[in-house]
Amino acid sequence: MKNILITGGAGFIGSHVIRLFVNKYPNYKIVNLDALTYAGNLENLTDIDQASNYVFEKVNILDADALKTVFTKHNITDVIHLAAESHVDRSILSPMDFVYTNIVGTVNLLNTAKDFWKEDLTKHLFYHVSTDEVYGALGETGLFTETTSYSPNSPYSASKAASDHFVRAYAETYHLQTVISNCSNNYGPFHFPEKLIPLFINNIINKKPLPVYGDGLYTRDWLFVKDHALAIDLVFHQGKLNDTYNIGGFNEWKNIDLVKLLCTQMDEKLGRQKGESEQLITYIKDRPGHDRRYAIDAIKINTELGWKPTVTFEQGLAQTIDWYLQNTEWLNNVTSGNYAKYYENMYDGR
Ligand code: NAD
Ligand code: DAU
Repeated sequence: MKNILITGGAGFIGSHVIRLFVNKYPNYKIVNLDALTYAGNLENLTDIDQASNYVFEKVNILDADALKTVFTKHNITDVIHLAAESHVDRSILSPMDFVYTNIVGTVNLLNTAKDFWKEDLTKHLFYHVSTDEVYGALGETGLFTETTSYSPNSPYSASKAASDHFVRAYAETYHLQTVISNCSNNYGPFHFPEKLIPLFINNIINKKPLPVYGDGLYTRDWLFVKDHALAIDLVFHQGKLNDTYNIGGFNEWKNIDLVKLLCTQMDEKLGRQKGESEQLITYIKDRPGHDRRYAIDAIKINTELGWKPTVTFEQGLAQTIDWYLQNTEWLNNVTSGNYAKYYENMYDGR
């Protein structure tokens, strides 16, 4: 019996983790703690929100008193921490939001867990879900391994690197039992359309320009979000204490090649002429400090825990496009309101 606090459960990856745990572990109580920022959306969870082993708490991780109340109320035994400001472009526009949530918020959560579990720290786990961006940028060759030095380049990745360091420090200093995973780029249903794939799906649907940064030759390693959730399940239950696992898709794509594949698949699904959506591609001013290439060596999680991706990129992308085409109400809801203001601020004049 576990009472697991999952933070950021109303976000993109968090909602898939919540769904997996609620359905797979009826004996666990799953407490979803989320502040519901612009990125948090309870519509991501309508299929499981009536489950008897699921509870939602609207709390900001910056509020230490509220965190303590939640731990006490639900007798929290373990934490899977995903709540974060997660978009690199927003971190360039307002870095302090990232310092507060990703660093101060994580330390608040570490303090709350450490104090609440002080009678016997060996019975509890604090799992921090992190990113491959902490390792910085790769050149044409090489892969990030678990021993690659941290070298973050954006305010987002610097804040995630800092939070990883705090998790490590709490394990060393206070003997809190921890585990960290660093994952590559996720894609899939419920992805907020400020990130490359859902933004471009939305723009293709609406025949709007596809804003490719710089020369479009930046490379990312894409993983279907449900495969990330499965990896988190394995690391949570079987990962070595106070260790780190890299998670990746074995699936590198240059942005421009990915965008062309997306255009081709969407033209077919929308019944448009071959090549029609590619005409929307527009090269714009580059992202400052843009990391050239990310690629993960995921051999450790594969050999130690037996994890590997279950879908190919073509399958995952097709499922993702289908989901967005079938969920236009979700897409319309998240792109109304402040989304237009963000979009104008981010892309006009670039
Ligand atoms: P997301 O932006 O979709 O969701 C973040 C969630 O955290 C939202 O529900 C938001 O409401 C909540 N949140 C934000 N600030 C909060 C606060 N102060 N208090 C409580 N809740 C708050 O993010 P995501 O893409 O699902 O990423 C989840 C985690 O996984 C993040 O820690 C991110 O760094 C990490 N990660 C993401 C990716 C990716 O490709 N998206 C890859 C690797 C790691
Ligand atoms: O690698 C893991 C990280 O992946 C996560 O930690 C982050 O939370 C997540 O946002 C993601 O970061 P990226 O910056 O790689 O993702 P994004 O979707 O913003 O951009 C992917 C690539 O596409 C990147 O090279 C920038 C480019 N891009 C992005 C946008 C939004 C464009 O060319 N045009 C765009 O409009």
